Amino acid sequence: MRAAPTMWRWPAAAAAAWLLLAVLLSAVAATGAEYVKYKDPTQPIGERVDDLLSRMTLAEKIGQMSQIERANASSSVIQKYFVGSVLSGGGSVPSEKATAAQWQQVVTKMQKAALKTRLGIPILYGIDAVHGNNNVYNATIFPHNVGLGATRDPKLVKRIGHATALESRATGIPYAFAPCVAVCRDPRWGRCYESYSEETKLVQLMASAIVPGLQGDPPANHPKGTPFVAGPMNVAGCAKHYVGDGGTRRGINENNTVLSFHDLMRIHMPPYDDAVIKGVASVMISYSSWNGVKMHENRFLVTDMLKNKMHFRGFVITDWQAVDRITTPPHQHYYHSIQETIHAGIDMVMIPYDYPEFVADLTSQVSKGTIRMDRINDAVSRILRVKFAMGLFENPFPDHRLTGELGHKEHREIAREAVRKSLVLLKNGKGGQKPVLPLSKKASKILVAGSHAHNLGFQCGGWTKSWQGQGGNNITAGTTILEAIKSAVGNTTVIDHAEHPDKSSIAKDASEYEYAVVVVGEPPYAETAGDNQNLTIPSPGPEVIKDVCGLVKCVVVLVSGRPLVVEPYIGSMDALVAAWLPGTEGHGVADVLFGDYGFTGKLPRTWFKAVDQLPMNYGDKRYDPLFPFGFGLTTKPTSQS
Ligand code: GLC
Repeated sequence: MRAAPTMWRWPAAAAAAWLLLAVLLSAVAATGAEYVKYKDPTQPIGERVDDLLSRMTLAEKIGQMSQIERANASSSVIQKYFVGSVLSGGGSVPSEKATAAQWQQVVTKMQKAALKTRLGIPILYGIDAVHGNNNVYNATIFPHNVGLGATRDPKLVKRIGHATALESRATGIPYAFAPCVAVCRDPRWGRCYESYSEETKLVQLMASAIVPGLQGDPPANHPKGTPFVAGPMNVAGCAKHYVGDGGTRRGINENNTVLSFHDLMRIHMPPYDDAVIKGVASVMISYSSWNGVKMHENRFLVTDMLKNKMHFRGFVITDWQAVDRITTPPHQHYYHSIQETIHAGIDMVMIPYDYPEFVADLTSQVSKGTIRMDRINDAVSRILRVKFAMGLFENPFPDHRLTGELGHKEHREIAREAVRKSLVLLKNGKGGQKPVLPLSKKASKILVAGSHAHNLGFQCGGWTKSWQGQGGNNITAGTTILEAIKSAVGNTTVIDHAEHPDKSSIAKDASEYEYAVVVVGEPPYAETAGDNQNLTIPSPGPEVIKDVCGLVKCVVVLVSGRPLVVEPYIGSMDALVAAWLPGTEGHGVADVLFGDYGFTGKLPRTWFKAVDQLPMNYGDKRYDPLFPFGFGLTTKPTSQS
């Protein structure tokens, strides 16, 4: 990573800042203006929180608890409701190809409005920067978490966190709804690719790396649970979705996790304890339920466990419109749902559209005493503590010097390294035959086939440019796997490319193809749209595999968010690579296919034989996988210059 711009070499800058402050404070004193403790950064954060809280009206307090959608966050709305936070939901952008500078203008306009309110409390702008700043055109898109789990490289994941923080700050955004620290126990879950692993310890390893990557390293004596964000080149993080989101019945999203308390604590809770130890700024609550109780109204797990027993002192935020989903159908008995979630211990409510109703209902309940003021004060104190801890009062505005961090080549190199290390080699050569990989760069003629060979959107997956993700090659800047193959092989190599070549054309040239690379997999999806009970490779993937691999030596590269059914076809494959959802840096795939780097990735999840085995996880008594958790063949780098 580049040395921080000279401005941020702390000792000199800090000394200058303190001196300036001392001068300013004495000037204030000289003018006789009121000294305002919460505005004094030399004061302890706790005292600043108490001072500010003591000055706030109920309307200002409830405003701080409200997070509204970007599209509604006009200056007048921000000022009328004293809005404390704004988010971009998946795909919520100022324009399709908005530049970093244009994003910064949006955030600056909102911040100016917020600072003009009576107490001048800055807003906190949040976005789902879950594999890079992925809503934003031209951002570096890193492999999704399942691929990072395959790397087993926490130092790399920490670097990804810092690069993501820089690319978020490039757009003026200081808050990321990341990391997802779900322990996905069933690949039928549409969010399994957002989980580093089925294995708790691996998720803990990654959580302990990504949180300081995003937020910065807390000092050795940092009190457990106190939110920590090092400075204006870091972002506040959000461990999500608390707790047990990855353990629902049959992997059904937002459904019910049926587990003993012991198993919930053993399997799903440890990554949160690690995140809290690292000073994570916020925790997002899961839509799911535990033993039939919605997490958003589970006071025992949110307040008694997370806040009291685990000493979490950041703020707890709902998921998107989660208050509405307390009831089925949603948004029934809204008044009661608000009472349940606030009483459970939620501090900030992601209320993208219904903020007028939310504010009115909550105000009424506090005024009537059905919600106690000390609960409101706890919520607001936590939110203010994070804002003070991250320096938002001192640095409320975007830093225009950071716009160049968006899509920076050094970040793309980190992403390319992550792609390399995420690839898991499951088969290399048919029984008894010599290995197929690495491939020759000097082949005379090769075939590249499959729906995912030349589709940037497919290789990025969900949460890319839009909530669900999308196909296509102009969605953002990046390199497809086909483009990477073309740049890897010699210029004498003839490359035939067809997504779904017909059998006769393959047969005609079969003897001329030294090998074929077949890249197939899943189309992008997010959340419930990704729930899948059969986990077959979407058509025409299996047909392409059969047609090509039946006639030409073939390497199948599977681009998917999870293990899929491969057992029926694996016999026809000469090699099989799990590429997960690699993101924009397709060169990382070619780097390893052609031997510039060896295969090192290890399965972060069990690869089942058939879906009727599910759920089946490492450590289960009944464990009969096609490829076990931790499996991965290796190859040595070979120079083919
Ligand atoms: C979504 C997701 C959550 C995300 C939030 C804001 O529904 O569940 O992961 O952070 O809403 O986009």
